Amino acid sequence: MKLRDFALECYFGKYEFTAPYLLAQSDCEAMSARELLALEEGAEAGYLDTWLGYTETWGAPALREAIAGLYRGTGPEDVLTLCGAQEGILAYMNVMLDAGDHAVIMYPNYPSVWEAARAIPGVEWSNWEVRDSGGRWAVDFDELEALVRPNTKLIAVNSPNNPTGYAFTNEELRRLCDFCRERGLYLFCDEVYKGLELDGERRDSAAELYEKAVSLGVMSKAYGLAGLRLGWMVSKDHGLLERVVCFKHYTSICSAAPSEYLSLVALRHGEALLERNRGIIRDNLRAAEPFFARWRDLICPMPALAGPVAFHRLLGGWDADTFCRLAVERRGVLLLPGSVYDTDKPYFRMGFGRKSFPENLAVLDDFLHTL
Ligand SMILES: Cc1ncc(COP(=O)(O)O)c(C=O)c1O
Repeated sequence: MKLRDFALECYFGKYEFTAPYLLAQSDCEAMSARELLALEEGAEAGYLDTWLGYTETWGAPALREAIAGLYRGTGPEDVLTLCGAQEGILAYMNVMLDAGDHAVIMYPNYPSVWEAARAIPGVEWSNWEVRDSGGRWAVDFDELEALVRPNTKLIAVNSPNNPTGYAFTNEELRRLCDFCRERGLYLFCDEVYKGLELDGERRDSAAELYEKAVSLGVMSKAYGLAGLRLGWMVSKDHGLLERVVCFKHYTSICSAAPSEYLSLVALRHGEALLERNRGIIRDNLRAAEPFFARWRDLICPMPALAGPVAFHRLLGGWDADTFCRLAVERRGVLLLPGSVYDTDKPYFRMGFGRKSFPENLAVLDDFLHTL
């Protein structure tokens, strides 16, 4: 396996900790360990007593139990913890795909999913596109049908989606699971933004509906605790999880004990954290309305159904690389150009999950007046 440089992470690597005005982030507002531990009496003392030895490769039993509690009809035996969601993407693609296999991958998507697939020699893949359909994002199941080949092994989707904010309705997810079941296909469903639904429909998980599905989750995004680097895979297919564990032996071996402890505390207060983060996103979306009204000749805002990111279209002949470069280099405002998702169409990603959004948007607004 030879991986290409990860364009999205390289772009962030250049600016994320130097640009003062972040407007592209996909994680929700974080908090300190002290704030998190204050959610529960006795949690701080328990944290200080955390044993700093190796932990179990599958994850701490209590944590696996708490994660299983997030899904209908699953138990701790269906859960494997990971180092972030990233480890899960790399591991899944590597254990599932071999030369001659074909994968259908939702596009756009968090790019590591297709980079991991293309890094395996002899693997073919096709994009199932989330399309801009007159100012809203949509998928077409007839297109999916046409993409499947005799050697198709799996479908990999990301819903709620990065960067578009598109999310399958529960009916669509059920349809996708039935589609895979009828054809014997595996389904990889990256659900790291689940819990941040903005349209009022709480989404189901693929692993609840289909025995050959994997649902990918993480503390980073909806819970806003990316520094924990704690993710998980949930599946009824234990043979598949066993193979991922064998890959994990070469990557992280096991999770960090302090992260397991803090994740368990966070999940005991998971609903409160999700509610807080949905509130931040809603407030920021409201705060952005006058901005988008003012710049309607420059930006066509594309609404997100779920999650903290949206993928907006630039108008007036602008290309996104130039627009984003000028914003960050002239005014320190970080936006993410669509080119990191391998598109030359004029889209850029904006993130709505941080408390500093209104002030940072004001800086962008001010900058746009100078263009
Ligand atoms: C859809 C999606 N999946 C996975 C990841 C990786 O998550 P983590 O940083 O927690 O490993 C990201 C990060 O942006 C993402 O957007």
